[in-house]
Amino acid sequence: MKKNILAISFFTLCLKLCIAQSILTESYNLMPWPQDISENTAKFIINSDVTISLSSDDSDRVRNAAVIFLRRLSNRTGVFLNEGFPLKERKGNIQIIYKTHAPLNIKTDESYTLTVNDSLVQINANTDIGALRGLQTLLQLITNSETEYYFPGVNITDSPRFVWRGLMIDVSRHFHPVHVIKRNLDAMASVKMNVFHWHLTDDQGFRIESKVYPKLQSKASDGLFYTQEQIKEVVAYANLLGIRVIPEIDVPGHASAILSAYPELGSLPDYNYSIERFAGVFHPTLDPTNELTYEFLENLFTEITPLFPDDYFHIGGDENEGKHWTENKAIEQFKTEHNLKTNHDLQTYFNIRLEKTLNKLGKKLMGWDEIMTPGMPTSAVIHSWRGENEGLPNGGSLIKAAKSGYQTVLSNGFYIDRMLSVDHHYSIEPIGDIALTPEERERVLGGEATMWSELVTPLTIDSRIWPRTAAIAERFWSAKEIRDLEHMQKRLAVISYQLEEQGITHIKNRAVILRSMTNNQDISALQELSNICEPLKVYSRNKDGIEYKTFSPFNLFADACIVDAKDALSFNKAVIAFQKEDTKSAQQAVLHFLKQWQVNYSNFSKLTLNPKISALEPLSKHLSKTSGLLLKCFEAQKVSTHDLDDLNTSLEVLKQEFMDTEVVIVAPLEILITYCKTNFQTR
Ligand code: ACM
Repeated sequence: MKKNILAISFFTLCLKLCIAQSILTESYNLMPWPQDISENTAKFIINSDVTISLSSDDSDRVRNAAVIFLRRLSNRTGVFLNEGFPLKERKGNIQIIYKTHAPLNIKTDESYTLTVNDSLVQINANTDIGALRGLQTLLQLITNSETEYYFPGVNITDSPRFVWRGLMIDVSRHFHPVHVIKRNLDAMASVKMNVFHWHLTDDQGFRIESKVYPKLQSKASDGLFYTQEQIKEVVAYANLLGIRVIPEIDVPGHASAILSAYPELGSLPDYNYSIERFAGVFHPTLDPTNELTYEFLENLFTEITPLFPDDYFHIGGDENEGKHWTENKAIEQFKTEHNLKTNHDLQTYFNIRLEKTLNKLGKKLMGWDEIMTPGMPTSAVIHSWRGENEGLPNGGSLIKAAKSGYQTVLSNGFYIDRMLSVDHHYSIEPIGDIALTPEERERVLGGEATMWSELVTPLTIDSRIWPRTAAIAERFWSAKEIRDLEHMQKRLAVISYQLEEQGITHIKNRAVILRSMTNNQDISALQELSNICEPLKVYSRNKDGIEYKTFSPFNLFADACIVDAKDALSFNKAVIAFQKEDTKSAQQAVLHFLKQWQVNYSNFSKLTLNPKISALEPLSKHLSKTSGLLLKCFEAQKVSTHDLDDLNTSLEVLKQEFMDTEVVIVAPLEILITYCKTNFQTR
């Protein structure tokens, strides 16, 4: 009996400790969340005596990371360090200890441990890449009180759940110069992402210099391409950050640009190939029955594969129905002769030939999931992107690929250009509850967020990638069980500002766009509106691809708006809280927003209008009107039928699209109107 009581109190103590600990550690703004974290009572004060030492100086990566770390540490804390560069051996009070300089591949050991004591911080890793990941965690641990900055005492043991944690950037639809790529690589490294998938070619432009086929850049890029030296520079930069670079040359479809330079490789001899200016899926396709096509691709791949040391090479392969193949009698004849029944069979024939070429060049062929056809060797890698099929989650093709023997990477669910909320992406579980054998599980390499760039330019790309991609990075790194939305959102808000500190322009460029829209007037009225409007979702901006061309303006109101509009999120939460608990303070939180929006119209009315902002006038006016009427109801505790009619009329206006955005507070406004009607209605 006594033993039992002892056991129970020990259990209670453990439970209390665990809860206390989880509350403490949950206050840290770490992203991705580490596999194991516990707190100790220490506090490492950040003062001018902080020094970093490296156990060896054979890794350029660690030296580079340590120098950047010290710069960010002193900037963030305002501490004037006595020594701003790393020391040798174990002389620093921050010690980075690693054993080997790792090659970058899917086997790279990225694990590390991090311990913070009163006088010593140690990062221990098997490889320099692990050390890099640990340094990023340490940067996220910087904490302060009123009087000092410090690292809280922790013991962390960490390693990734998936070996492939990628971001794809499409530089064809809109070109993104080297400095844009580099700042995004920095951001990726800060959230421990390790694969940059570079979508270099598409219908709208071929973006890499070829010395063997120079018309690719002279005729198919509008002069917007990377020189081979620039490619090397980016690959080296990524390598320093522990990021692999996977190039994509998308064939045989998405080939308008290639064919504008080399029409003789096209499937229709008389077709007038040109660089595509619109967005969508187009028919120009390489001719897979022409030996010149294979000669061209072999020469091109032979030229460019040495620029990309990674083992994997992406050939696209998506969205080709072979319309031009069907229209060409000679190609149809070829299909008959080779017993290729469908255009998909013909594409498989093409893919298999490409795979042989790439294998000869030491590369593994990767392609979008269309390449997973009967007959495709399992040495290919399947990039899952399409919707659910066969009752399987997350694109289906991921699980099907893993079960069929292919290595596979998931992007279905992580299409950040669909402009869906961070909660949506964060809630996608790559494997779901599907039972996989250990071998099948190992084939699921991880995932990639995809930044298709039809509607983004260097001015806006950061605000489409970040901060949502930081949460996606966590999905790929952290344990499956780490999925609390509120905890993620709280941490993401902090990480978002740290991304800006690091050079990402997702916050500041919104104001840049609004200043440009107003010809440098006071932008506060537009800022208020942009905090409750979101760009149209799931490709409904530029429906059918005909409204915007590649050279259309992308500094419009929609470009200043972002997913997860800040005030809309807070207002939604406030209204839900008020619905749950009809208290004075819950009501005040709601009314606070209504007051803000009511007065905003007078602010908006002071603007000298121009065509870029005039269309927002009804939005501002009816938002003010709705807010004012709701305030009146709450203050008077009554509402007339006439006011309710006016409320409904204004709400109908707010349901419209405004300059390619939607007002994302309509639902909570409806809740408030219903509340007024139910509780306050008079005749
Ligand atoms: C794709 O989104 N077409 C791979």
